[in-house]
Parts: sequence; C-alpha cells; structure tokens
Amino acid sequence: MSLAIQDDKNKKKITTLSIKEMKRIGRKIVCLTAYDAMMGRVFSEADVDLILVGDSLGNVFQGLETTLSVTLKQIIYHTKAVVRGSDHPLIVADMPFMTYQVTANEALTNAGQIMKETGCSAVKVEGSSPVVIEAIRKMTETGIPVLGHLGLTPQSINQFGSYRARGTNQDEAERIFHDAHLLQEAGAFAVVLEKIPAELGKRISESLSISTIGIGAGPYCDGQILVWTDMLGLTTDFNPRFVRHYLNLNELILNAVKSYGDDVRSNNFPNKSESY
Ligand code: KIV
Repeated sequence: MSLAIQDDKNKKKITTLSIKEMKRIGRKIVCLTAYDAMMGRVFSEADVDLILVGDSLGNVFQGLETTLSVTLKQIIYHTKAVVRGSDHPLIVADMPFMTYQVTANEALTNAGQIMKETGCSAVKVEGSSPVVIEAIRKMTETGIPVLGHLGLTPQSINQFGSYRARGTNQDEAERIFHDAHLLQEAGAFAVVLEKIPAELGKRISESLSISTIGIGAGPYCDGQILVWTDMLGLTTDFNPRFVRHYLNLNELILNAVKSYGDDVRSNNFPNKSESY
C-alpha cells in the first residue's frame, strides 16, 4: 500500500490510513500544531505529515492560562484557516473542553459540525472516561477518525492541579497503558502521549497496533508532535525539557521589528525604490 493518496493537484494527501501504515513500515510521523493558513502552508511545504489545530491556541494565540475556555466556534475558525493554507498533511481539529465529555451523541454532533464546516480529516479528544470511549466508538463508526490523547491532558488541569509528568508511578503507568488499549479498541487511529516516561511510551508503542504520537513521551513513539511556537522559539515563557528549539523566532522578530522602527524614525524607510 502506498503511504498516501493522490489528490487533484497530484500532491500526496496523507490519510489516517497512511498514518497507520507509517507505523507498520517504521517511518516516523512528523506532526506540529498550527492555527492559521500561513503556518499551514509553510508546514505543508516542509513535509509535515499531520497538523493539529490544537486547543493550545488558547495559550499561544489568545494568551490564556489554560485551554478550557476555547470554544467550538474558535476551533472551527482556526481549522478552516489551516485547511485553506495546507495541502497534503492530515489536518486534525482538537475538540474543545465540554464539547465531547457530556454525552457521546453530543460529541458526535459537535465532531460532525467541525468536519462539515472546516474540511479537516479527523478530530482529537482527551482522556478515556466511559463517555469519551463511547464517543470515539460512535464517531469512528460514523466515519469520523479520532486521535486520542493520554498522559498529561491539559483539559483536566483543574483535576490534577499541575502540569507534572504522568505515569511516573506504577498505578498511573498501568492506567495509561490500559487506557491506550481502550482507545485502540474503541477505534482511534492514533494516540497522543503527553509527558510520560520514555519507557512507558515505548511499552505502549510496542503493544498497540495504532500509532503513538509523543510530546514529552520519549524517542520510541511512532511520531512526535510539538507546539510550533515552542519549537521555533516564539514562546518565551514555556521551557519544558521536551521542547527542542530549532529557531529563536522571538529574537529574530524582535531585531527585525526594531530595525524597521529605526528606519521609520530615521526616515530611511521607504526609500526611492520603495515609493511610487
Ligand atoms: O492542544 C495541543 O496543541 C495539543 C498538543 C500539545 C498535542 O494537544
């Protein structure tokens, strides 16, 4: 089976089947978050496999402390923009807090609205409560692919009280391991594992047939995801050890904008060739 399907423009479109296939053949899955068309375009060009329109947009885009107040309307707005900017990556929309945890039917209705209005190819949900498991089953049976999310689940921050690593004691590790299997049995096509010990990430990845996508879950996961503003150094106040900085965008932008300011103030911009 080929890793992707052809779309109209002859680009290779990544599907949930491709994501499963990548695990089978041992090709690591490259994932990033994005919240707008510009980054969707850049990440498409850079051959990212999966783009998550994460509810982390509450933190990075809206400047909020938690992701809890992100709404369905906001996720739809940002997902539409990312879909418009991207071509071949698989676009996954994060389901906001309280849009899928109350009843499985409500989850199905909300996921359906996200898919219909945005054109994304899958949704993501956090946790493994009985309602969430039932919701995953209903969504996948209806043709809506679901990405699960275990370990540190930011929508439950008020329950846990901190962003500490999860699965660091035996009971918690066994629960996460067990829950990963529940998600797989319910029909999830992959599962995000956030901030858990590398050995637990390895155990889960080796025992599941679906793909694992790690964020702070060590090198043995089938793929990796980072919040783009963290990995490109635009976020300055969030420095967990699992983030590798590939760029210091904050400094680059700061210096460029300062130069622009200097040029405007000294009447060095615009010059003759930049004028009509
Ligand atoms: O909301 C988000 O960006 C996420 C990723 C960190 C996995 O859930």
